[in-house]
Amino acid sequence: MLRYILSSLIICAMLVVAVAATKIPAAGDAKSAGAPVNVQADSITFAVIGDYGRDTKQEDSVAKMVKSWSPDFIITVGDNNYSTGSAATIKTNIGKYYGDYIYNPDAKPDWQCHGKAEQQKQNRFFPAPGNHDNYSIPPLKPYLDYFTLPGDETNYDFTWGPVHFYSLNTGTDAKMTCCDSKVSSWLKDALQKDTKTFKIVYFHHPPYSSGEHGSSKDMRWPFKEWGVDAVLTGHEHFYAKATVKGSNAPLYLICGSSGSNEHYPCNEHPLEKDKYDWLCDNVHFGAIKVTVTKHKAIFEYYAVEQPQYPLDVNVVNK
Ligand SMILES: [Fe+2]
Ligand SMILES: [Zn+2]
Repeated sequence: MLRYILSSLIICAMLVVAVAATKIPAAGDAKSAGAPVNVQADSITFAVIGDYGRDTKQEDSVAKMVKSWSPDFIITVGDNNYSTGSAATIKTNIGKYYGDYIYNPDAKPDWQCHGKAEQQKQNRFFPAPGNHDNYSIPPLKPYLDYFTLPGDETNYDFTWGPVHFYSLNTGTDAKMTCCDSKVSSWLKDALQKDTKTFKIVYFHHPPYSSGEHGSSKDMRWPFKEWGVDAVLTGHEHFYAKATVKGSNAPLYLICGSSGSNEHYPCNEHPLEKDKYDWLCDNVHFGAIKVTVTKHKAIFEYYAVEQPQYPLDVNVVNK
């Protein structure tokens, strides 16, 4: 394993961080929005953060913990830029903390991040938009201008090691239907052709939640039938796992505790107890660390208050 330590590196002209990275892909030409991302690797480690972009001390703590893991890349489950997805706040809410992972050559010059990802010409930050990102006028304009992502940058996929990732934009209120909408058809078709061992779909609004917002029932798509292993979401400001009883449904995890400064109640809209198991932590701030090898994916939720051991562990074997 290659290991690099960078220090005294100015990230997005804002931050000094120390970062270790693994499995550096060969640097290519500057990649533009829409360019596919397919990185070869036998095993990967990535982080999942959600509801984080508020420039708070909680965001800072979680970012430091995430970077201490030296993940190959980071995915987000939305609400990247509170409170209105504005151009005025996007640098301080995102790049200030995660600029080392962001390669955004299509952004205007003073928005571009100048860290490890830029040096390697390899983006390592793959967000999904949340309702707060969609509150900008027009919706998502700063978000799309800031990031340089594959496909249409709102509903896109990429592969890294043994995993195929699908990021969806559920807009302001997840009023998306399955299975005749453009997005659901794209996802279904892509999953049917998918030959990767693990398939992970991530977006903002959780299909199953007992929390403050409750379930986004329109997002109860047939992920199990489509071969999805994990559905990762946010929106609720806590960590949770919803298990559909008596089925081998995908792992449904909610990770909305990565930087917003308040927690939501865990049981405002309880799921039916005969159909679902519900585990919820609204005490800590944290992020999920995922380690994937050839036949195993391990999802560990870590809190900044006690980062030595995970508060929840889930394993998917293949
Ligand atoms: Fe949020
Ligand atoms: Zn939200």
